Amino acid sequence: MSALLEVEDIKTYFIVRQAGKRRIVKAVDGVSFSINRGETLGMVGESGCGKSTVGRTIMRFNKPEGGRIIFDGNDITTGDMRPYRSRMQMVFQDPYSSLDPRMSIGEIVAEPLNIQYPAGQMSKQERADIVLEKMRLVGMNQEALSRFPHEFSGGQRQRISIARAMVTKLDLLILDEPVSALDVSIQAQIINMLMDLQERFGMAYLFIAHDLSVVRHISQRVMVMYLGRCMESAGTEALHKNPLHPYTQALLSAIPVPDPEMSRKKRRVVLEGDVPSPVDPPSGCVFRTRCHYAAERCAAEAPVMEDAGQGHFVACHNFRRL
Ligand SMILES: Nc1ncnc2c1ncn2[C@@H]1O[C@H](COP(=O)(O)OP(=O)(O)OP(=O)(O)O)[C@@H](O)[C@H]1O
Ligand code: SF4
Ligand SMILES: [Mg+2]
Repeated sequence: MSALLEVEDIKTYFIVRQAGKRRIVKAVDGVSFSINRGETLGMVGESGCGKSTVGRTIMRFNKPEGGRIIFDGNDITTGDMRPYRSRMQMVFQDPYSSLDPRMSIGEIVAEPLNIQYPAGQMSKQERADIVLEKMRLVGMNQEALSRFPHEFSGGQRQRISIARAMVTKLDLLILDEPVSALDVSIQAQIINMLMDLQERFGMAYLFIAHDLSVVRHISQRVMVMYLGRCMESAGTEALHKNPLHPYTQALLSAIPVPDPEMSRKKRRVVLEGDVPSPVDPPSGCVFRTRCHYAAERCAAEAPVMEDAGQGHFVACHNFRRL
C-alpha cells in the first residue's frame, strides 16, 4: 500500500535582506519522509531548524524550491490545491493568534465546510449539525458556538482549532507544536484526545515538537531535524533506546531521567553553542560545528541518509563507529 504522504527532497528557501544584501535562507534543504494512513510521525528539532516550514510547504502556504510532495498518489508540488485542501489541515502552536478574534466559534469551525460546500450545496441545518458534532468530539458544547475566541483558555482554543480542522473529512493533520503553549496537565489531555480521535477516524498526523519527550507517547515514528535537514528517523522506541546520530543522542541526554540508576548509566552528551544561521550553514555535515565526533570528512562531504536496518535511518559518516 502506498503512503498517504510522500515528501521527496523538498527544499524551501526564503530571500532576506541582511546589511543591505540579498541573502538566501535555506529553511528546508532536502528533506524526505513519508507518512502512512492513520500513522503519527513526530518531527523534532531546535527552534529555527525548519519544522514549521516543512508543514507549511506540505500545505503549500510556502512554495517549494525543489523536490516533490505526493498526497494520496497525487503530485501536489504545484498546481491546484483546492481538491486537497479539505483533506489536509494544519493546527498551529499559538491558539491565540490562529483563530480570527472577530469571528464567532461557530463561524470559525464552519469555515472549511463552507469553502468545500458553497451556498446551495449543503443546507444550513446540515452544516450546523456537522459543526456541533465536531465540537462535541473535542469536548466542547453548543453554548460555545456563539462565543468568541478571547472567551476561551489556550487548551479550549486548541480544541476548537482541532474541531475546525476535522469539520471536513480529514486524512492528514499537521500539528505544529499544538501543546507547546499549554500547561503540562492540559498538554496530556490534548495529546490523549488526539490519540482517541485518530483511533476513531483514522487520520494521519505530522506532529511537530521541540522536544522528543512530547512526541514519544503519540508517535509511531520520529524524525529529527537540524538546520533544514533530517538527521535521523526511526520507530519511536528504537530511536529512544538506540539513538545513532550524535545530535539525537544530545537531545535525549538533555531529557531528565527520573531513575537515578538509569541516569548514571546514561552517557551525557552536552549540546554546546547555538544552531548556525541557515543563511550560511556549515559545509558538509551541518551539525559538525557542534559535534564531538566531527572529523575532516564531515566538513568536506554532507552525509546522506543511510539505512541502519529495521526502518532506522541516519545521516552521519561515523554512525557505525559511534
Ligand atoms: N517567511 C520567512 N521569511 C524569511 N525567513 C523565514 C520565513 N519563515 C521561516 N524563516 C526562517 O527559516 C528558518 C526555519 O524556520 P521555521 O519557522 O520553519 O523553524 P522551526 O523549526 O519551526 O522553529 P520553531 O521551533 O522556533 O518554531 C528560520 O531560520 C526562520 O527564520
Ligand atoms: S557526519 Fe560527522 S559531524 Fe556530522 S554528525 Fe556525524 S560525526 Fe558528527
Ligand atoms: Mg515552528
